[in-house]
Amino acid sequence: MNILLSEDEIRVRVAQIAAEVNRDFAGRPLTVVGILTGSLVFLADLIRRIEVPLKIGLIQASSYCGETTTAGELRINDALLTDVRGRDLLLLDDILDTGHTLTRIVAHLNAKGAASLRTCVLLRKVGRQQVPFEPDYTGFSIPDKFVIGYGLDYDDDYRHLPYIGELTP
Ligand code: XMP
Repeated sequence: MNILLSEDEIRVRVAQIAAEVNRDFAGRPLTVVGILTGSLVFLADLIRRIEVPLKIGLIQASSYCGETTTAGELRINDALLTDVRGRDLLLLDDILDTGHTLTRIVAHLNAKGAASLRTCVLLRKVGRQQVPFEPDYTGFSIPDKFVIGYGLDYDDDYRHLPYIGELTP
């Protein structure tokens, strides 16, 4: 296992992002929407550093079984989403890769009547994007490697690792 981002590096960066969110949303209640399952660990760490009142919503996006990256077809399940109408949203994802997932979910949430929407990704893979998408907050830019840990998985394993590593054969 090649460790790309240590537990300490992640903690420091998450605190910096939370400070930016606290500044940008000062006095404005927020709904943090996490994309399941990859954003769970990031969401848990980030929200505990956010100081504005917040609600949590969850949304699931899955590509078809067993794939390691997102294909064209995406299923969106919003059964666990709170009411986002008129709310300021902060949408969290673990990683921006091709950009299709976030593009689709942003459109979905806007169609549900969000008052405003900002996006935050922990990781952004360099050189992989297929659709233009600029997150408002980005934790780290990383090379085009398949990564696991801190919520990210391979076949649903490794999500519990406290660091982010490159999956090696
Ligand atoms: P797109 O391509 O739609 O993809 O931006 C975002 C989703 O793809 C998954 N993904 C990964 N998951 N390690 C993972 O565990 C990776 O290196 C990786 N690259 C993409 C992830 O579900 C993300 O939300």
